[in-house]
Amino acid sequence: MIFILKDEVLSELEKNRGREVSGETLSKRFSVSRNAVWKAVSSLRKEGYTITAATNRGYTLSENNDIVSSAGIAGYLENKDISVEVYPLLDSTNILLKKYAEDGVPEGKVVIAEQQTAGRGRLGRSFSSPRSSGLYMSVLLRPSLSAENSLFITAAAAVAVTEAINSLTGISAGIKWVNDVYVGGKKVCGILTEGAVDMETGGFSYAVLGIGINVTAPEGGLPAEIRDVAGYLFESGCTPADFRNRLAATVINNFITLYHKLPDKSFINEYRKLSVLIGKRVNIISCGKVMGQAGVVGIDENAGLIVRYDDGTAEILTSGEVSVRLSEN
Ligand code: BTN
Repeated sequence: MIFILKDEVLSELEKNRGREVSGETLSKRFSVSRNAVWKAVSSLRKEGYTITAATNRGYTLSENNDIVSSAGIAGYLENKDISVEVYPLLDSTNILLKKYAEDGVPEGKVVIAEQQTAGRGRLGRSFSSPRSSGLYMSVLLRPSLSAENSLFITAAAAVAVTEAINSLTGISAGIKWVNDVYVGGKKVCGILTEGAVDMETGGFSYAVLGIGINVTAPEGGLPAEIRDVAGYLFESGCTPADFRNRLAATVINNFITLYHKLPDKSFINEYRKLSVLIGKRVNIISCGKVMGQAGVVGIDENAGLIVRYDDGTAEILTSGEVSVRLSEN
């Protein structure tokens, strides 16, 4: 394992966030000079961390920073087998993690980017990923599920994200079938699971679970083309301290718990409770066209949407075929 002093110093300061850690303690802890500690602190400051220094006393990491770091996330993780890498800029966290997967990296690797230049969305769309205003994260999985059950991964992730938002904030988030997380009628999170199938077994070689959460408004606001449908959790400047580290860790913690129980589908109960569609009328859309209207009756045990048409007939919609939009009448 490579020792990077800056990361180790950050990890120590993260553990003592808001409290002073003496330069001497840090230099003894890592067997380096106090000057080397000072240089590590200086480069952390250049990355945007607010660290105050008191002469002959020590260093304090401000409680108000919201910078994503692997050390910051590690402090909140329940499962120590998860290994998180954070990058300032990537084309797409899913793309990098798929490369890792092909290279044989084990399950549990997480890649996060502060900004993506080619964020990938569902159905070949792009996912707007401006700098420092969201959480753009991918998790490498090697599931023992058959590939046809990949929807369960995405649905369980929607539960994990929704419950993380609800437990960390006073905001009420819900799931819009099949895997979008909504707050106040706007989409705040999209989820894209991509994978490779082992042709002999019909199981996964790997799956990459990509989660994009809009935490705050980007500079200049949301792009015009998504402004009507997309939202975010906090107004600019109102994100709570250390929020994105806590959010990333809580989503991972929640998801891993659900992931270990995926085959028994117990997450479906939570999924139903969090659904924003049950009891509502929706337009059913296929290939971009509205095909009809129906009332949503429930979610079946395979995460299919149970709808009833006005003539009384019922149908179970599966996500590959159609999408739905809340109807205004
Ligand atoms: C969608 O709603 O269409 C799914 C969006 C998924 C976006 C996330 S951001 C992190 C990960 N990396 C990507 O390129 N896409 C996913």
